[in-house]
Amino acid sequence: EKPYVFITRKVPEETVKPLEDIATVHMWSSEEEPVPPDVLLEEAKHADALYTMLSERIDDSLLEQADNLKVIANLAVGYDNIDISAATKRGIAVCNTPDILSDTTADLTFSLLMATARRIVEAAQYIKNDQWKNWSPLLMAGTDIHHKTIGIVGMGRIGSAVAKRATGFDMEILYHNRSRKREVEDQLGATYASFDQLIQKSDYVVCLAPLTDETRDMFNQETFSKMKSSAIFINASRGQVVDETALYEALSNQVIAAAGLDVFREEPIASDHPLLGLDNVVALPHIGSASLETRYGMANLASRNIAAVLSGRTPEAIVNDSVLTS
Ligand code: GLV
Ligand code: GLV
Repeated sequence: EKPYVFITRKVPEETVKPLEDIATVHMWSSEEEPVPPDVLLEEAKHADALYTMLSERIDDSLLEQADNLKVIANLAVGYDNIDISAATKRGIAVCNTPDILSDTTADLTFSLLMATARRIVEAAQYIKNDQWKNWSPLLMAGTDIHHKTIGIVGMGRIGSAVAKRATGFDMEILYHNRSRKREVEDQLGATYASFDQLIQKSDYVVCLAPLTDETRDMFNQETFSKMKSSAIFINASRGQVVDETALYEALSNQVIAAAGLDVFREEPIASDHPLLGLDNVVALPHIGSASLETRYGMANLASRNIAAVLSGRTPEAIVNDSVLTS
């Protein structure tokens, strides 16, 4: 009997084809609507593989009932939605989609930075609202990007790709990371800084750090108060790294100048959320890796990760590779 794979959202059919040769694949029928938790639990009880989105919470109590489960493949580089230690202790492989999305996510992060600095969204709305009556010297005047200081918090693959883009804008690059990254220092001229130094000196504070116990609420009232009043905060990692109430206060009291946000504590964010009412916020619906090329690439990789584990091969991208040797 073929192994059973449950996919928690509708993904492009052609990216699932290779899996169908070796497994019985069932896909939740909607592209937009997440699978209800009770349906997910029932599926998990007999699935050999779960192919998940970052919107699904895979916790210890679900895994406890997933007796056949061998692999969880997340369609994301981040995996904070999955209890990794609970999966590891049960020998379940957790796979993700790194590398393939780094350049695409860096492009979006840099776009968000530029859109926020140069007030692109506000300006585009202004013209569509028929508000443009005259050219005037300071109309929609924003802030320069070139020759400014960018501070990248989380110098992983995406952070490095953002740093590379920043060199093209003659920016000074600071970074903070758990470990020093000599290659970005040597190749891109980035300078390591303590978190405090980085937030104090940067014109653009860009968060690309994964969500962990150390990064949760890392951007709070104290952090914002240490930033320049002209600082622009960009978040393309996870909403939970930010205290959103503190961010709202900082933005509405000119403690910092503006924010570009691709991620939120609650996703989707409520349309009446105070942050969305601010002119100095550019908000995007978590689209960091959302190019057609990259989303198809990620979906193919997720399928290959599952096929590898189910066939006893080493997957291309595994988060807890200790389960392979045990
Ligand atoms: C998106 O946020 C991802 O982790 O891939
Ligand atoms: C994180 O895993 C990254 O690629 O930056």
